[in-house]
Parts: sequence; structure tokens; C-alpha cells
Amino acid sequence: MHRVLDGADARFHRGEVVAIMGRSGSGKSTLLNLISGIDRADSGEVEIAGRIVTSMREPERTLFRRAHLGFVYQFFNLIPTLDAEENVRLSLELNGVRGTAARRRSAAILAEVGLGERLRSAVDRLSGGEQQRVAIARALAHEPPVVLADEPTGNLDEETASQVLRVLLSLTQSRRTTLIVVTHDSRVADSADRVLELREGKLAPREGSAGQGFADGSRQDLDAERRGMSTERAPARRTGLS
Ligand SMILES: Nc1ncnc2c1ncn2[C@@H]1O[C@H](COP(=O)(O)OP(=O)(O)O)[C@@H](O)[C@H]1O
Ligand SMILES: [Mg+2]
Repeated sequence: MHRVLDGADARFHRGEVVAIMGRSGSGKSTLLNLISGIDRADSGEVEIAGRIVTSMREPERTLFRRAHLGFVYQFFNLIPTLDAEENVRLSLELNGVRGTAARRRSAAILAEVGLGERLRSAVDRLSGGEQQRVAIARALAHEPPVVLADEPTGNLDEETASQVLRVLLSLTQSRRTTLIVVTHDSRVADSADRVLELREGKLAPREGSAGQGFADGSRQDLDAERRGMSTERAPARRTGLS
């Protein structure tokens, strides 16, 4: 048995872009799954927008996640039987936006990511970069305060990766969305406000990263916070807060 996360502790601020790096298997995806409540930790707490996600039960936790989070994955995870616009509209419909309003909003955000002409395209007909732009539109359509991205450029060639990165940063910045992005891509890290490294279960500022954070105090409203999170892979054992 080993502890994947061991007292990992971090706060993320509204509108901030934080890159999380770390070797393969260090627990980056696990960390995102804990923040979103998809995985459960043995101990510790996740707070988002003033709410303690880790103490919510179902179905409240699922509803909270739908409304407050957006997800971008390495392999896009679009629904292949739906077209581009329907994939985006789904995240609105799941949050109670229906009919013309939902169609208008999904078409508008797809235009914003440069896919205004591809609304009716089957997503498996789109290139990798286009699919990832659909996924970014889906993640942001319902305007969640936080977007979690797990190696969003990991499956794209260099040029496509830069284009996708620009789109992701532009949408999150215009909406003041907090972006927590797991990445191996140094350009993604270079675009972040801060870079954290996950190592031996703990999160620390990456050596040599600019790490200016919020020295000007401009964005101080706390948006997402995690405290003393620990998790182990089976067999589960209760651990105290570090
Ligand atoms: N479902 C699972 N069951 C058991 N162990 C897992 C599971 N998912 C991941 N792990 C283990 O947890 C650790 C962290 O995995 P992960 O969060 O996927 O790392 P990363 O995303 O940084 O590559 C690894 O040792 C991995 O093998
Ligand atoms: Mg991973």
C-alpha cells in the first residue's frame, strides 16, 4: 500500500491559472478527481466557492459538480453519437438551460472557439484540435467557476497544442474561470500564474517557477480550496490530517 496524496494542500483563487506538474503516477489525475469529488479521499477536505464538497452526499455532489466545474481531458471524452453543438448543449441542459437559449449559447461559444461552421459535424469527423476545442466549449458553456484540465494538450501535435492552449486561456480569462491544469507541456506551465509540483504526495511550488501568485492582491476572493488531503489506494486505511 502506498499513499498517493499525503497532506497535499493548496488554495486556488478566482481567475487564476495553476499548472500542476509531476512525474507519471505521482497522483495528478487522482488530485483532480478528488477536487471534483469523483474520487473520495481517506481524509481531508475540498472547498469550492465556499461549499465543502467532501461533506456533500449524492445527488447533491453530482449537481454541484455539474454546475461548478468543467472538465477537459487528454482524449477529449466527447459523446460520439452527438454532433459538436449537441455535445456543448448537453452541459447547459444538465444545468437546466433548455430550448432556444441553450442552442444559442452553445452555438455562440462554439463560434468563440472557432467552430461556428462545424456545429452539425459528428465529433469523430473532427480533428484532434477541433475535438479539444469542442471539449473546451463544453467545459465553459455553463460558466462554472472552476475548470479542471488533465493534460489537455497531451494528445496534440505542437502547433495544434498551442492553438488549443490559446483558446483555453482566452475563454477562462474572459470569464474569470479558475483553471487548474495538469500538464507535462512546458508551454502550458509557462502560461500559468503559478506552477505546483506534485511529488511524494505533496504539492509545492515548482523550483524556479515564476510563482508571482497574487502579490498585487488583485484577485483575492477565494474560489477553490483544498486542505490537507490524503488518499491511499486499497486497502483503504483511515489517516489523520497531516
Ligand atoms: N483506480 C485505481 N486503483 C488503484 N490504483 C490506482 C488507480 N488509479 C491510479 N492508481 C495509482 O495511483 C497512483 C496515481 O495515479 P494517477 O493519479 O493516475 O497519476 P498521474 O495522473 O500523476 O499519472 C499511481 O500509482 C497509480 O498506479
Ligand atoms: Mg494522469
